[in-house]
Amino acid sequence: MAILKVARMGHPILRQVSQPVPEEELGSPGLLGLVRDLVDTMREYDGAGLAAPQVHVPRRVVVMELASNPRYPDADPLPLTVLVNPGIEVISERRIEVLEGCLSIPGIRGVVPRAAEILVRARDPHGGVFEARYAGFHAAVVQHECDHLDGVLFVDRVADTRTLGFVRELERFGPERAGGPAAPAGDL
Ligand code: NI
Repeated sequence: MAILKVARMGHPILRQVSQPVPEEELGSPGLLGLVRDLVDTMREYDGAGLAAPQVHVPRRVVVMELASNPRYPDADPLPLTVLVNPGIEVISERRIEVLEGCLSIPGIRGVVPRAAEILVRARDPHGGVFEARYAGFHAAVVQHECDHLDGVLFVDRVADTRTLGFVRELERFGPERAGGPAAPAGDL
């Protein structure tokens, strides 16, 4: 088990476009070890998702997991999911607004418009083919993590910067007063 150091906004690794995992590395001890460390690190810091560039590895790998959490009663649980070389197809014109946070931008949240429904195609770390549909907050988590692979942070996508705030203030005054909707929030 290894807890890795999480890069914070301002570190150039977070702005790189990450490289795909080559076919011959699927199932390799190196990739499986990276996935284990990503999962350990995500759980250690109570994140709902983590992308490899956030731990200074510029590869197209993300992990996601939402245990049922009383802090986020509106968020349905999401089982541990590992996406290697993911691609997203937007399957609904509908947009949702989600109050997002990020382990690389600790203490800050903001409202981000996201596609409400997506289809994800990826590989699993053992080389299998992965395909799933996501909607609502889960779709937002996938989009947030896949953005990391292209060097994009959630603050780049905040439509109204007045919704940005520190967690403590948003909890005290509420995201509604800060201008955003009441929506599940988490560090992604
Ligand atoms: Ni993030």
